[in-house]
Amino acid sequence: MVGIFNLFRICFRQKLASFGNLFQKIRLFNLAIIDDSNCLVGVEIPEESTTNNLQPTTMKKLIVFNWKSNPHNAASAIKLAQLVEKSIPKKNAPEVVIAPPFIFLEDVGKVIKKAALGSQDAFWGDVGSYTGEISWHQEKHLKVKYVIVGHSERRKYLGETDEMINKKVLAALKAGLKVVLCVGEPSRAAARELRIKNAELRKAKNYVRKQLEKDLKNSKFLILNSKLRNHLVIAYEPIWAIGAGHSDTPQDAVEMIKYIKEFSISNFSPYGGSPEGRQFSNIKVIYGGSVDGKNIKNFIQYKEIDGFLVGNASLKQKEFDRIIKA
Ligand code: 13P
Repeated sequence: MVGIFNLFRICFRQKLASFGNLFQKIRLFNLAIIDDSNCLVGVEIPEESTTNNLQPTTMKKLIVFNWKSNPHNAASAIKLAQLVEKSIPKKNAPEVVIAPPFIFLEDVGKVIKKAALGSQDAFWGDVGSYTGEISWHQEKHLKVKYVIVGHSERRKYLGETDEMINKKVLAALKAGLKVVLCVGEPSRAAARELRIKNAELRKAKNYVRKQLEKDLKNSKFLILNSKLRNHLVIAYEPIWAIGAGHSDTPQDAVEMIKYIKEFSISNFSPYGGSPEGRQFSNIKVIYGGSVDGKNIKNFIQYKEIDGFLVGNASLKQKEFDRIIKA
């Protein structure tokens, strides 16, 4: 049991300075309790040392099937979900998440047992006057476990900004949902020459870093909260590889994934970039962009890739069966 000592109730944005040292300690030991308005309202006193709670990322790969705006009707959605269930082996299965369109969440939720339910977005507000939006509250009610946030198609077609995405990340994490935050650069010039190739990769890393900084603003206390361990997943989806029929090379994807992991360790490890901290990362980093039943074998061998976010191939039985069983 965790004892709670209500130390103070002061919005840390305003009063942070005066509690500087104390706050640093609380943050270091990962004990902050935060309310809906981002205020520090208390401090957790765990019975065991917090370091005992730390887990390295598990070996189990995470596979998120993003159905996007498919299929046409509930009957097809149910059938597809049943086929996915059938593909998941009883032993040594990866963690499979099905993210159907909102209107099929309930139907799909009823027929899946081995797979978890995901949604493709969640508004930051609770229930209220938000025409057309679906809140995290309603999704939780439907037993949604994962929410995809900041997908490039929402950024492009619906004008989602990093500021909006940041609000969604914070709201979903506070609600106890697991967040799959999508980042990725829009283009990468093909280059044979190593010097140009490296320059392109550097540009892409800078782009992704800026997205991460903005999308994860003020989320540190949530990510470090012991109750929210493993609640943030980052999906690296280079936009030019999405739906393109040609993925990134596994080597370049790994290079970017390592970079994202470095970023998350130095920003979100309870121990910063220290040797202890480097052993523990609560944040999985997965790859998305034209993953299919054929190329999965090229990616799966890399331990740095914690899983996959799959679009087109998640709608075709032969493809998703091979991905799940890879
Ligand atoms: P594809 O697998 O169709 O390239 O889509 C990737 C994606 O956008 C998953 O979110």
